[in-house]
Amino acid sequence: MTYSTFDVERIRKDFPILSRELPGGRPLVYLDSGNSSQKPAQVINTMRDHLEQHYSNVGRALHALGSESTEAYEGARDKVAAFIGAPSRDEVVFTKNASEALNLVAYSFGNPACDDERFRLGPGDEIVISEMEHHSNIVPWQLLVQRTGATLRWFPVTDEGRLDLSGLDELVNERTKIVSIAHQSNVLGTVNPVADVLARARQVGALMMLDASQSVPHRPVDVTALGVDFVAFTGHKMLGPSGIGVLWGRYDLLSAMPPFLGGGEMIEAVWMDHSTYAPVPHKFEAGTPPIVEAIGLGAAVDYLTSIGMEEIQRHEHELTVYALKALGEFPGLRIIGPTTAEDRGGIVSFTIPDVHPHDVGQILDDTFGVAVRVGHHCARPLHLRFGIPATTRASFYLYNTTDEIDALVRGLHHVQKVFG
Ligand code: ALA
Repeated sequence: MTYSTFDVERIRKDFPILSRELPGGRPLVYLDSGNSSQKPAQVINTMRDHLEQHYSNVGRALHALGSESTEAYEGARDKVAAFIGAPSRDEVVFTKNASEALNLVAYSFGNPACDDERFRLGPGDEIVISEMEHHSNIVPWQLLVQRTGATLRWFPVTDEGRLDLSGLDELVNERTKIVSIAHQSNVLGTVNPVADVLARARQVGALMMLDASQSVPHRPVDVTALGVDFVAFTGHKMLGPSGIGVLWGRYDLLSAMPPFLGGGEMIEAVWMDHSTYAPVPHKFEAGTPPIVEAIGLGAAVDYLTSIGMEEIQRHEHELTVYALKALGEFPGLRIIGPTTAEDRGGIVSFTIPDVHPHDVGQILDDTFGVAVRVGHHCARPLHLRFGIPATTRASFYLYNTTDEIDALVRGLHHVQKVFG
């Protein structure tokens, strides 16, 4: 395969872990970036440099290190805002991860501390998610309907692994307060038709949120162009560290929402009987934030930008086409998700007859150093929909190669021999 300006071998050299050997001299074939990505030296070095040279708390320290640290932390917010096309840096809230971002939004609904009509929620109101959601975009809404008596409704998924929009007008209706779906499924790879769903949400006056954990790392995502109200994603899947995530939300909505966690730095003033709150985004960043993690995320954004998100998307598309063909030709293998690469990202989940995915994963790892994820990938309702308990999932990123997909296929032939 030829790469024009995109030089995967050069990119691989930026990731120290990719050149390590596993015990027994196995090379590492890392096909689990949908779970968590590896980190380039640029991110590792930026975090180390901050800890060695600039570290102190942010916001509250009136000394030289305090301003350097605050500048770097707030600079990371600027970088993230530019990366996702946010109209304002103040719309970028740093959270612990995407789950926290989703919980934060869910917490605002039906909350007596919020008198904004858009967040009023009770019996008779509906929230719409889909069968392909990660648990992070299911459980916060389940907790919310338990608290409020509202109803949780679901988009079905087609046999091909696409969002089933046939009942869109009935499902998203005047009772709907918010629609929250994955931008890209972490199991199927499906990229969802946001514009179609959003158009209906707008007709009925519902808000719309995207879990973009699997899209922001892999393709250009512009929140303004998408036109939705909230977007959640996480740093560790996009070359950054764990412990840092992002909630992007429209400024007027974030301003109307109540604080999620109380504590230092999220206040304007505190009295014994009440408090007033800092403006967004700080209203949602109680306590000492993940400072070095945010700065690491900023470095990850710089790195991704230097390569180019369109180039990354194109590379992963080529890998996906290659993998779908190679796995599609594998005897008996069933791909769970679209078998063509249109509107699809670099994630391929599958089953092999008569072999449990845990055995597949273990043999791939033990014998060939191929790291995949096995299980229900925190999307159990989706697996139930397909009548299977688990799948094996290969997920690709900018540093993967077709040789690594060949290694996966060789490994699967070995699995079949062992169980044959
Ligand atoms: N959500 C992550 C995954 O899909 C953890 O693997």
